[in-house]
Amino acid sequence: MKHVRYGVIGIGNMGTPHARSIVADKSRKFSLAAICDTKPEKAAVAQELGVPFFADYRELIDSGLVDAIIIAVPHYWHAPMAVYAAQRGIHVLCEKPLASSVGPARTMIQQCKKHKVRLGVVLHHRSRDIMRKAKQLVENGTLGELFRVSMVCSSWFRSQAYYDSGDWRGTWDGEGGGVLINQAPHHLDLFKWIGGMPNRISAVIDTRQHKIEVEDTANIICQYGDGKIGYIYATTAEVPGMEQFILSGDKGTLVWDGGKLRLAKLKTPLSKYIYTTKSGFKSQDVTWSDLDIKENGGKHIMIIRAFADWVMGGKFPYATGDEALGELEISNAAYISGYKNKAVDLPVDANEMEKLLDTLERQRSTGKGQGIRKAATKALKQHLAGK
Ligand SMILES: NC(=O)c1ccc[n+]([C@@H]2O[C@H](COP(=O)([O-])OP(=O)(O)OC[C@H]3O[C@@H](n4cnc5c(N)ncnc54)[C@H](O)[C@@H]3O)[C@@H](O)[C@H]2O)c1
Repeated sequence: MKHVRYGVIGIGNMGTPHARSIVADKSRKFSLAAICDTKPEKAAVAQELGVPFFADYRELIDSGLVDAIIIAVPHYWHAPMAVYAAQRGIHVLCEKPLASSVGPARTMIQQCKKHKVRLGVVLHHRSRDIMRKAKQLVENGTLGELFRVSMVCSSWFRSQAYYDSGDWRGTWDGEGGGVLINQAPHHLDLFKWIGGMPNRISAVIDTRQHKIEVEDTANIICQYGDGKIGYIYATTAEVPGMEQFILSGDKGTLVWDGGKLRLAKLKTPLSKYIYTTKSGFKSQDVTWSDLDIKENGGKHIMIIRAFADWVMGGKFPYATGDEALGELEISNAAYISGYKNKAVDLPVDANEMEKLLDTLERQRSTGKGQGIRKAATKALKQHLAGK
């Protein structure tokens, strides 16, 4: 294949810029072939971009017009659309999170593998130079064995007007979670991609400010089974927002804060110094340096370009379906831990997560989400049954 024809499903906040950026891209390795949305007024975007419009994703996928789809709809629809496409040999680039829960997400991965199509996820923060540098410093041993990984992502402020702007937003049956499912997936993914995958999660989940069914704030403690500890704080209810990432290890510490990346290097590894120093109190001198890495990358179009290359036989340096599952394991475990008040081992028990969603829906749903979960789950079952 020398050219990838994209179909974009969901022409909202995210799908509209995806469609426009594909048309604007000059590479000519891919093009926009069609778009789809259940809202008839979105046909105006099709007219603007000169492509056919479909109101039903199955018709777009069956049209013969597209080689790959970009899924940019409410989370519960990700799995049925991905599975329907995979079964027909159409590649899938899915918006984050892969799904609202690990069960459907694992099904997406399994079906895409079975039908030999690519599954990528728009976790574009992986393309930020700053984050790639942090990953490199962990992997090349500059920091030594990691003791602590901590991430504050309070830079995701959302107003009540934001949550009120869409039926599905801030609901259990429409969105499947709050900050952990919609905003923080990028940071959960960076946390896991750079700091490693924990094996046990304990969380405190809260709806602190907003009038929504789901959480707007989460605190997560991660254990790795080797003494290393991780901490994540995510909220949409704090100003000024911060993005702070600290990786502390035996040979050094890396701090991303206030838009600066700083590296502290120890002269003697901590595990040695602690036993060789004769002083009871004095810690060793540390050399700090500012790393001159510009904030670069982090653009959605980079993922769309790379995915097209992958479909055409190249490599995909960003999050595949398998890799994107990690952040969802963390968020789902945090929900189970937070709402059931217990530590949760990974991988998450998919049945336990679905039962928790049933309970949260029953106890907290205001009806705003309009039963998207139910409709999408039914569609997924039908597609798996070949319908
Ligand atoms: N990567 C990012 O930076 C980023 C940013 C924002 C949103 N997102 C993700 O993009 C996805 C969409 O979010 P959004 O903010 O654009 O939502 P949105 O509500 O603005 O848009 C969703 C669109 O999907 C359409 N839709 C809903 N159900 C459909 C169906 N069954 N078939 C076809 N169309 C359907 C809606 O009519 C709407 O136009 C979510 O997964 C979200 O998490 C990612």
